[in-house]
Amino acid sequence: ADYSITVDPSATGPEIGKTMYGVFFEDINRAADGGLYAELVQNRSFEYSTDDNEAYTPLTAWTVSGTAQVVNDAGRLADRNRNYLLLGAGSSVTNAGYNTGIAVQDGKKYDFSVWARAEAGSTLTVTLQDAGGTLAAARRITVGKGGWVRYKAGFTAGRTSTTGRLTVAAGAATAVDMVSLFPRDTYRHEPNGLREDLAEKVAALHPGFVRFPGGCLVNTGSMQDYSESSGWQRKRSYQWKDTVGPVERRATNSDFWGYNQSYGLGYYEYFRFAEDIGAMPLPVVPALVTGCGQNRAVDDDALLKRHIQDTLDLIEFANGPVTSEWGEVRARMGHPKPFHLTHIEVGNEENLPEEFFARFRQFRAAIDARYPYMTVISNAGPDDSGPTFDAAWQLNRDARVDMVDEHYYNSPQWFLRNNDRYDSYDRSGPKVFLGEYASQGNTFGNGLAEAAYMTGLERNADVVRLASYAPLFANEDYVQWRPNLVWFDNHASWGSADYEVQKLFMSNVGDRVVPSTATGTPGAGGPITGAVGLSTWATSAAYDDVRVTAADGTTLLDDDFSGGASRWTHTGTGSWSVRDGRYVQTDVAAENTMVQAGDPSWHDYDLHVKATKESGE
Ligand code: AHR
Repeated sequence: ADYSITVDPSATGPEIGKTMYGVFFEDINRAADGGLYAELVQNRSFEYSTDDNEAYTPLTAWTVSGTAQVVNDAGRLADRNRNYLLLGAGSSVTNAGYNTGIAVQDGKKYDFSVWARAEAGSTLTVTLQDAGGTLAAARRITVGKGGWVRYKAGFTAGRTSTTGRLTVAAGAATAVDMVSLFPRDTYRHEPNGLREDLAEKVAALHPGFVRFPGGCLVNTGSMQDYSESSGWQRKRSYQWKDTVGPVERRATNSDFWGYNQSYGLGYYEYFRFAEDIGAMPLPVVPALVTGCGQNRAVDDDALLKRHIQDTLDLIEFANGPVTSEWGEVRARMGHPKPFHLTHIEVGNEENLPEEFFARFRQFRAAIDARYPYMTVISNAGPDDSGPTFDAAWQLNRDARVDMVDEHYYNSPQWFLRNNDRYDSYDRSGPKVFLGEYASQGNTFGNGLAEAAYMTGLERNADVVRLASYAPLFANEDYVQWRPNLVWFDNHASWGSADYEVQKLFMSNVGDRVVPSTATGTPGAGGPITGAVGLSTWATSAAYDDVRVTAADGTTLLDDDFSGGASRWTHTGTGSWSVRDGRYVQTDVAAENTMVQAGDPSWHDYDLHVKATKESGE
């Protein structure tokens, strides 16, 4: 067949913003500790707990030789850093790092540090070894009598290894905390820095923005904090004040994805990284409605006010003068100049539109009053369509919200079929931030489907202002979600085909769209093209194998949705109808829940539907 594309270079389409394509970083799949955060010691402050993961204890990743006891008492190093380890005289403790161990490279330098306290004074002997023997010359530290002091020692690796172990041995009884080992070569040699190869992989994309810190981890769990009045709270929503200041004073928290997050990689480090790579920072704050399957609205006016104030304080932390309360905190951390924050997102995937919106309005009013230049971003829930999505969009439109965040993880076929999704979006309504999307899989075909879809985003650059693939990172030994853009272990990293697609688009952002028309497009006019598609409800991955058959028996879709680990499943019965040329499930009787791939309760569905549109039945 003859295909032709006509381009009129003199015609001008919408402008494409320089920040159009960005990245979304969430601490999922151990993307932070054991990932982008360069710390090599796992559970450095003995804070792991069964609240984080049933298998955890405060000594997870540690092996004791002799006597050692985890202590949680008033002798602690800092209020939010509850536990420390009391090492008996002549005893030692060994850390196993992440993956196969602590990875070191021949000739490279490593910085060890520890907080220690010994009533009668002590010595610490620090060694770096693997099964083959010594990896670097042992270091001896003299611990003075009295209170907590930070001690440091440097190592130079004499051999390359991916199975290293770090051992700290005490001469006399010694309390230790924040046992830390960093490569000297962090990204841009910054202190408390980032793993070089991973940071460089992100920098090489030339992202226009960095959305952080999540995702589901932002707005799940308790909205309380560590304050005296609320007591000791774990499983809290992600609250930025927990994550700034000296690392030994930061809280740790249970990560929504089933492990402990140290917050060593915190808001200051996120802002610094965005600045380093020339990207716009785009933080997400919780809005007192939990999402991601928890779906609960918190009714507590005082708490809501506190969170709104925290959000104002966050903007002050990013942009305020050094004379302001939070600007001073930023300056003390090493960055007197502002971080130039212009966009902030309130909430992530709340599935209760009315409840979310009542709270969002209050956040927005407070931000507008104090920082009228800020773009305040709302969201449309976790689906690409459906009744909740429609209700959320209506609320956003009515309130003339600046920008709405959409998320969807669908089959590659869905992405190919929906290239025109934004062609019909209201040009006078809120702009779109496609904050999370991916086709299910990391194959070349997935990358291709996403590339095709991105041409549709770009064609609609007047409506779609920002877009980021998700998730960004996965440590291959700790995977909760797939597909992912960049994969790694404790010593290597590799981009997916999808990564190359993102790099291609981000590194070549045009100034404007040049309108084009195509004739004879392959596949046009057949029964599938543009005419038949499944909405999110139907493509929800619980339908392990979905087949759609037209009345004449033609198979319109046969999809086994391979390639997804964590998926949304629909566990109710409903009926189906055709709306806007797509099959939509209505009267859904049960909630969506997250399940793991391989769940034996998955079923095959034979879905026989009658297709009527443009090209006939
Ligand atoms: O990107 C992984 C998860 O997908 C995010 O945490 C959440 O926002 C979405 O459901």
